[in-house]
Amino acid sequence: MEQTWLNEAFKGEVPNDFRGKVGWSSPSNIALVKYWGKKGKQIPQNPSISFTLSECRSKTFIGFEKADSFGFRFFFEGKENPAFGAKIEKFLLDYQAFFPFINQLSLTVESRNTFPHSSGIASSASSMSAFVMCLMEIEILLVGPSTGSWTLDLCKASYFARLASGSAARSVFPKMALWGKTDCYKGSSDEFAVSLENDIHPVFKTYRDAILIVSGETKSVSSRAGHALMEGNPYAPARYALANENIKNLLAALKSGDLDTFINITESEALQLHALMMCSNPSYILMKPNTLNLINEIWGFREETKIPLCFTLDAGPNVHLLYPEQEADKVEYYIKNVLADYCDQERWIADHVGDGPKKLL
Ligand code: PMV
Repeated sequence: MEQTWLNEAFKGEVPNDFRGKVGWSSPSNIALVKYWGKKGKQIPQNPSISFTLSECRSKTFIGFEKADSFGFRFFFEGKENPAFGAKIEKFLLDYQAFFPFINQLSLTVESRNTFPHSSGIASSASSMSAFVMCLMEIEILLVGPSTGSWTLDLCKASYFARLASGSAARSVFPKMALWGKTDCYKGSSDEFAVSLENDIHPVFKTYRDAILIVSGETKSVSSRAGHALMEGNPYAPARYALANENIKNLLAALKSGDLDTFINITESEALQLHALMMCSNPSYILMKPNTLNLINEIWGFREETKIPLCFTLDAGPNVHLLYPEQEADKVEYYIKNVLADYCDQERWIADHVGDGPKKLL
């Protein structure tokens, strides 16, 4: 697809009166089978599957104007933020062959997250996917209606989002996405994610994710460094084989609505991710004491009530509590009365599986 998208890129002259603003809101996602370890240009070592979230989103606007050369400013939550801006600017310059028109534009980006600062929720998936959707819309405005390409191609958006931040590739699709080549799913690719929306049981289309904030501190080891440490990890080959096996079994469970298998794979994946961190050299731990306290509580509650709730973890200490919508009342009562005590200032975010990016303007 790379060549097709390179050929499709708008390479003409940007009209002198070309100016305006586009806006997209895009959600975060939570992986069930984790992407941990990469090669080449953001190619995953194993396929991953995620729920697209609904409430945790980035809202991004790009103001654009014809200019003699590329101009770029980035504002985060109302303030100019050169550090965040530098990451996006680097992405644009590294991949300008896909967006050659940026060299004739001055761009002003304004982005904000719906989730609070210091909630420990990674924002790269939501922010990078929102940014890419805006950029693609600018290109559509340039190309014009005559080509018929008025709708955003989500696989193409996923491809660009992946280049900006791996897991962002999965955020552009509603409900659930699969990123990474697997023989178990036709059309799957290492270069972009695909939608699983039509291959999942209805129970998963409204699944809940309560994000229990154990700590909002910045992680001591970034995801980028974590991926890199997989290169020397002696367990890496076994991990990649197991992840492929988990993909196969999870795809079947998602289709049939088999919650026992879903729970088994999801929790094992979360613990494996953190076990890989502990087996890296240098080794590190991102879980906190309350991460383990929450896991034990959740296991006890599931045993006692038989409610099919389970947890997953991102690359950090916070616990994502996953449960079917029909159990929401009982689980939320339990969160407020028991689990919130283990959270930083009793903070948790009620999220659920969502419909993907939305156009704002
Ligand atoms: O997209 P990155 O490079 O920030 O890596 C994300 C890694 C995990 O969130 C831990 C797992 C995943 O698949 O999202």
